[in-house]
Order: sequence, then C-alpha cells, then structure tokens
Amino acid sequence: MGSVSRVPVGVLISGSGTNLQALIDACAQPDHPARIAVVISNRPGVAGLERAERAGIPTLVAPHRRFSTRSDYDAHLVQLLTDHRVRWVAMAGFMRVVTPVLLQAFPQRVLNIHPSLLPAFPGLRAQGQASEYGVTVAGATVHLVDEGVDHGPILAQGVVPAFPGEPAEALQARILRMEHRLYPMALRWAVEGRVTVNGRSAEVDLPPGEHRALFPS
Ligand code: GRF
Repeated sequence: MGSVSRVPVGVLISGSGTNLQALIDACAQPDHPARIAVVISNRPGVAGLERAERAGIPTLVAPHRRFSTRSDYDAHLVQLLTDHRVRWVAMAGFMRVVTPVLLQAFPQRVLNIHPSLLPAFPGLRAQGQASEYGVTVAGATVHLVDEGVDHGPILAQGVVPAFPGEPAEALQARILRMEHRLYPMALRWAVEGRVTVNGRSAEVDLPPGEHRALFPS
C-alpha cells in the first residue's frame, strides 16, 4: 500500500513514547494501512519526540500551560492536527483530559490506550491500583475516547498474569509489553473502518484469525 493511500494519524504523547514506538514500527510495515503524519507532545524534551524524529516523522511541542482553558488548548490541537490532514488521533501516554472540542473535530476517531482491564482502575497509577487490589490478572485496553476518563467503547484488551507480592514495576513492565502488541492491532482495525459504535460498546468487523482479546504469547 503506497503512502498516498494510507490513513494519516496524529499521535499525542507526553513522555517516553514506547507505545508511539510500537505504532511507528507497525506503520513502517509496507502493508500497514496507517501512517503517522505528526507527533504532538504537550511536554518539551520527552523521549517520544526523539523517537519520532529518528523515524523522520514531523513533531510539534504544544505546551498546555499557554492556554487558560482545556477547550482553548484542544482547539489549538485540532488546528495542528488538521494542518497535518490527520484523520485519526491516537493518544499514547498523553496525560491530558480532552474536551468535546477535540472529540467533535474527530468524532469516534480518537483512540487511547490505558494500562488496565477497563472498566477496572481508570485514572492515574492504574497498574499500582491493580497491585494494591491484589488482582490475579491485569492488562491493557484500547478504547475510543469519549468525555469520560478512560471510559469510551472498548476495541481490544490484552490480559497478563499478576503475581502476589511481585514489585509493581514488574507488573507494569508486563502490561507495557502487552500494550505494544495491542495498540498497533487496534489502530489497524480503526483506520480500516472496522469499528462501529453501538451505544456503550464497540463492534469490530475482525479480520480472519484476529481476536479482540490478547493473551500472553
Ligand atoms: C502507558 O502505560 C499507557 O497505557 C498510559 O501511559 C503509558 C505511556 O507509556 N496511557 P509510553 O509513553 O507509551 O511509554
């Protein structure tokens, strides 16, 4: 598939960008239907920006502190994304709550990845919350973004074991490896138009042999 026909995606980050890297690597495959048109970080100097630069992807820093309201900030993001002709938005460790300004500009076309099996443990420190709860399985979720925090219709979930007494960092690393399998897969379904929202949930017209639940390989 030539780059001309690939679907332009904007990735929003705030930090290390290991999920961004997984998306970069996936989109580098000749048959991947998405291309990353721009990477935007609300924080300067983060490793994710370097990852994008190494891959030759345009980067922008959009500090949120210059804007007095979340809506004004999101209007700025919408401008930057539309300047790059973005069709889908993928939040990858973007530590901001987004507003209807962004969601209405990209209706049902904003994705997020969260390090828990939603609806368990939304919000910050999801892996730590799971450890404190003594869960026996944990995981990650890719979902469409709506106005709730870590709330929108679920596209895919990946499950990992959680072991009693293990350091929270060990669980976090296991979940992160799962995230890196999950997000490129869900992004592909999204840009291929396989996702339909049906109230609280999403339906995915799955390619043969693919599943919405991933398990440790
Ligand atoms: C990931 O755990 C993601 O699920 C969460 O923030 C973290 C970002 O990590 N939303 P990275 O920047 O992709 O390495």
